[in-house]
Amino acid sequence: MYQYDAIDQRIVEERAAQFRGQVARRLAGEITEDEFKPLRLQNGLYMQLHAYMLRVAIPYGLLSSKQMRMLAQIARVYDKGYGHLSTRQNIQYNWPKLEDVPSILDDLASVQMHAIQTSGNCIRNTTADAYAGVARDEIEDPRPWCELIRQWSTFHPEFAFLPRKFKIAVTGAPNDDRAAVRFHDIGLRIVQGPDGEHGFEVIVGGGLGRTPFVGKVVRGFLPKQYLLSYLESILRVYNLHGRRDNKHKARIKVLVDALGVEEFTRLVEEEWALTRDASIDVTEQELERVRAFFLPAHYESLPNADSKLAAMKLGKNRDFGLWVGNNVTPHKVDGYGIVTISVKAPGKPPGDITDTQMESVADLADRFSQGRLVVTHMQNLVFPDVKVSDLDSLWRELVKLDLATANAGKLTDMICCPGLDYCALANATSIPIAEELGRHFDDMDYLNDIGEVSLKMSGCINACGHHHIGNIGILGIDKRGEEFYQLMLGGSPGNDASLGKILGPAFAKHEIVEAVSRVLARYLELRESSDERFIDAFRRLGAEPFKEAAYADHQG
Ligand code: HEM
Ligand code: SF4
Repeated sequence: MYQYDAIDQRIVEERAAQFRGQVARRLAGEITEDEFKPLRLQNGLYMQLHAYMLRVAIPYGLLSSKQMRMLAQIARVYDKGYGHLSTRQNIQYNWPKLEDVPSILDDLASVQMHAIQTSGNCIRNTTADAYAGVARDEIEDPRPWCELIRQWSTFHPEFAFLPRKFKIAVTGAPNDDRAAVRFHDIGLRIVQGPDGEHGFEVIVGGGLGRTPFVGKVVRGFLPKQYLLSYLESILRVYNLHGRRDNKHKARIKVLVDALGVEEFTRLVEEEWALTRDASIDVTEQELERVRAFFLPAHYESLPNADSKLAAMKLGKNRDFGLWVGNNVTPHKVDGYGIVTISVKAPGKPPGDITDTQMESVADLADRFSQGRLVVTHMQNLVFPDVKVSDLDSLWRELVKLDLATANAGKLTDMICCPGLDYCALANATSIPIAEELGRHFDDMDYLNDIGEVSLKMSGCINACGHHHIGNIGILGIDKRGEEFYQLMLGGSPGNDASLGKILGPAFAKHEIVEAVSRVLARYLELRESSDERFIDAFRRLGAEPFKEAAYADHQG
């Protein structure tokens, strides 16, 4: 768990005090909304359809129970009693009053949190694998590297006004990318070099939105000490050459595409040759300094519990067994498990969490997970360090909170943006469709039969809900003032990264859930065996059979 030092603490406190003055001037009418806008955006405060929205940074998704308790208190005192977990491992509040925001920032500062750089054209919160530090398949914990990037990028004077926002993600598990690194402005995979040493594969120019791209590798192996100088070179090339004349063409993905990855890489390497031996080498000493800010986990010496886990799955309590099977992942330390807490109960908005749930989850993290938890890019929570012998007690508590849905990685573990319910840019609602899907697919046996499949939904082309990289993607569009939904299939965020393809004409609101249902029924008919995942069947068979099924009843 990362701890602020005195400098960090002072910065966030001073920033909150400064914003209090800015808000006071806005409320007194001394500055206009136009003058206020850049000031509020520097503090993560957006203007939405009905109210302001505040985005709070959660570096690489890691939270202490104390911080979670404060997030609950903020939801209760200043919002409508809930928060919304975002795909960039942050939390958003949809109803704060402007006059309350400085006090919210004070409260956040008191637990070493803030909303700085959560909006604007700067380097945003760096995200990581939600299982970082505890995953069995990880070759190195990526979080100290994320933290190093955080320290380097926060208030970096050269990169405060980039052509557009900028997002970096890191994974230390090279064979199972759980951080969607190929869909970030820069994705970093910790990989092994020729002599077994660790370094980074550097991927640039991925992203979703109106022009989606899979990122391209600009360097297969970057020795670790050069991480910051290389990032700096990439950002410098982008800052100099990225388009500022057209907001829709300003992201680095467009620059990489326009120049071609070879030319882009050449420019980066040329820049790097001039600066790589300057003073920002990451020494072992520097990395140790950063690592020392993380409170270590304390593990008891316990026997391997894999067979115990297997027995739990098949045990007498079927609901508990399903939950262990779907929501508990083996831990790198014997006797422990990684628990995914699904914030996707049937019929509820995906990722919305109430103040009481947050508070209770914080208490449970103290009891069962050494006081720490992680917000995942799937809009769920993770307890990284749960003893296998505690799983049963933890599950019973989660059931009471409606947080024990056994659907991690299943169809109803959807990603969904707020759509027309809150968002000023939306063309269609997405939360009500998610709720309808949740109710429609409420049968756990059917969900388990379908197996691993991802469904992602956005209310407009900005793609906050990642629809392009859902095995099943749904995009809300507006046709002559009515809400319609495009269905796309074949996307994947992981190591087999791909973008989904639109099946055909959009569906009316009352048709879309049935269309998804028919696509899945066709998959069950056509799969070669129960081991063949939906995405594999789609890749083997192509779109045609699914298209035929989806449009079987279509009104046109
Ligand atoms: C309600 C307020 C929101 C607004 C106004 C908003 C606005 C936007 C816009 C304009 C973009 C496109 C940027 C571009 O041109 O590339 C975008 C992208 C994105 N948003 Fe949101 N968003 C909102 C909520 C959310 C939520 C709730 C999430 C998470 C669930 C989210 C996650 C993202 C992500 C991950 C992207 C990046 C897609 C990419 O890779 O390019 N946003 N958002
Ligand atoms: S995808 Fe569109 S509708 Fe959904 S949150 Fe983003 S900007 Fe709003």
